[in-house]
Amino acid sequence: MPPHSQAQPAASSPAIRLHDVELSLGAGAARVHILKGVSLEIAQGEAVGLIGPSGSGKSSLLMVLAGLERADSGRVTVAGQELTGLDEDALARFRGRHVGIVFQAFHLIPTMTAVENVAVPLELAGRNDAFERAAAELAAVGLGHRLDHYPAQLSGGEQQRVAVARALAPEPRILVADEPTGNLDETTGRQIMDLLFAAQARHGSTLVIVTHDPTLARRCDRTVRLRSGVIEPEAVLAGTPA
Ligand SMILES: Nc1ncnc2c1ncn2[C@@H]1O[C@H](COP(=O)(O)OP(=O)(O)OP(=O)(O)O)[C@@H](O)[C@H]1O
Ligand SMILES: [Mg+2]
Repeated sequence: MPPHSQAQPAASSPAIRLHDVELSLGAGAARVHILKGVSLEIAQGEAVGLIGPSGSGKSSLLMVLAGLERADSGRVTVAGQELTGLDEDALARFRGRHVGIVFQAFHLIPTMTAVENVAVPLELAGRNDAFERAAAELAAVGLGHRLDHYPAQLSGGEQQRVAVARALAPEPRILVADEPTGNLDETTGRQIMDLLFAAQARHGSTLVIVTHDPTLARRCDRTVRLRSGVIEPEAVLAGTPA
C-alpha cells in the first residue's frame, strides 16, 4: 500500500502533545521566562511550520518537544511517551529511538568527517551498514563528494546539509528542524525541503520545522506562530502571510 502524507484520522493519538508548558532558561540576571503556557497537538504524519519573530521561543520549543530541555511545568507527550518524568538517560534513549534533530547551529562533531557524523546515530541504533547508509544519505543531499571532509572544511550550507542527512538517516518518527534551509540557495533549499517531505511521505514521519522561508512554510500542512513565548490563536493567523 503506498504511504501517504495525510495526517492520521483523529482517532489515533497525536504524535506530539504539549499541555500548558512553561520553560525558563539561564541563571540569575540572565534567567528568561521563554515559554508561557504553550499547549499544542500535532497529529502523526503532520508537517507543521513553526514561525514567529526572533527571540519568540521557537528553538526553545523544539528543544522541549525533542526531549533536550525539560519543561518547568506542564505535560509533554511525544510518540506516546510522557517526557516530563524521564531522567537524562531515558531521555537520551527516547531521542535515539524516535527523534531526528536538525539544530539551528548544526552541532556537527568537529573531530569527525561528514560521513562519520552521519553514521553516529546509525551506529548507536546498532546498524551494521551505518557507513554505507551514511554515504547514501550524504549523496542524497548532494554531498557524495565531501564524505571525508571535516565540518571546518565545509561551507555553512554544506554543514547544514550534513546535519539534515544525519537527522534523516535513522528514519525517525519525529523530525524537528530549526531553519533547515536558512543557509541554502534556492535550488539547494528546495532539494532539502523535498527530502524532508519525502521522509514524511515515505515513513509517515511527523515534521516540525522552524522557518522564516515562506515557500517552506506553505508546503507544511499548517503553521503555528509563536509570539513572546505564547502561541497565537489560529483566528489571528488566518490570512496572515508566513
Ligand atoms: N539558555 C538560555 N539562557 C537564557 N536565555 C535563553 C537561553 N536560550 C534562549 N534564551 C532566550 O530565550 C528567548 C527565546 O530564544 P529562542 O532561541 O527560543 O528564540 P527563537 O524564536 O528561536 O529566535 P531566532 O528566530 O532568533 O532563532 C530569547 O530571548 C533568548 O535570548
Ligand atoms: Mg531559533
